[in-house]
Amino acid sequence: MRGNSFAFRPILEIKNLSVVYNHRTLGRVYALSNVSLDVRPGEALGIAGESGSGKSTLLKSILRLFNPGETAAVSGEILYLGRDVMKMEKDALLALRRGGIYMIFQHPYSAFNPVIKIGRQLDETIRLHGSRREAPELLEACGLDGRIPDLFPHNLSGGQLQRLQFAMALAAGARILLADEPTTSLDAVSQFEIIELIKTLLEKESLTLLFVSHDLSLIKYLTDRAVIFYGGTLIEDSPCPDLFKHPLHPYTDALIKCIPQPDRDPGIIPGDPPDLSNPPVGCPFFPRCSKSCDICLGSVPLMRTSHKVRCFNAGPYTEF
Ligand SMILES: Nc1ncnc2c1ncn2[C@@H]1O[C@H](COP(=O)(O)OP(=O)(O)OP(=O)(O)O)[C@@H](O)[C@H]1O
Ligand SMILES: [Mg+2]
Repeated sequence: MRGNSFAFRPILEIKNLSVVYNHRTLGRVYALSNVSLDVRPGEALGIAGESGSGKSTLLKSILRLFNPGETAAVSGEILYLGRDVMKMEKDALLALRRGGIYMIFQHPYSAFNPVIKIGRQLDETIRLHGSRREAPELLEACGLDGRIPDLFPHNLSGGQLQRLQFAMALAAGARILLADEPTTSLDAVSQFEIIELIKTLLEKESLTLLFVSHDLSLIKYLTDRAVIFYGGTLIEDSPCPDLFKHPLHPYTDALIKCIPQPDRDPGIIPGDPPDLSNPPVGCPFFPRCSKSCDICLGSVPLMRTSHKVRCFNAGPYTEF
């Protein structure tokens, strides 16, 4: 946790965000349901949950990165420094995507123009944003060799390209980084180096981070706070130390037990995630939960104990 940044008002406020996709065969897919969360400047927020739980949809929503016709309905508010991204005109949205909030893609090759040398791509970003920083300084800040401007993207390794995405984000003057599994496609050494780079950049550049990962141990290592998604619902939101010591939602507890440990068999969560084209009423984890009872079949509010949780069995609590 860095400095006293949590004293400030949120840099990003997400209120009751719901996203419904148009699926070619399934029809409507309810990818996110009433998600609310705040992110404070300088905070590193981890986002975890099983495949299909809505993590990428959350990041795409923040920059409205949906293709035409991809969604059937998107509702709620996404406030960046108090301005609603959902209501932004095209120009303001483009400026936001190129500047304030920067998406770090999982597959870095897709983030660059393959036929333009790296130096030109970086210089264009610097010029476009009127950055006072120069390419060599940005490359050095991201641990890149000063000779790479003469190369094309395909001349770089995955790890180098991933570093370059961070250099681009700095060139663009980004304040928030959205990183959707940024290390999944990398080998173990490169993965470690990128995580260390992110840590350094968070410290030195006062960035805010939303970090999606399936790897809870990475989230524990890198982020201050984490939110857990299940079936398109935010089910737990807590500072990391507390979350990993005292997970309150049975799903979070089960997920943490799935982290491989040398002294025990890896946990498994029996059953399957919900079908979001026919979303369940009540707690989406109900059919797989060992603690479920009748009350869980109704709507479960987000409750506050030592941290926020959407489960009746986590008490004592006060309702939000
Ligand atoms: N373009 C789309 N059209 C229709 N349904 C979609 C689309 N994109 C995602 N979905 C569905 O929305 C739900 C949430 O998907 P999302 O990609 O946000 O999950 P995720 O948590 O990022 O999963 P993963 O961990 O596999 O990346 C899933 O049921 C998924 O199948
Ligand atoms: Mg995803």
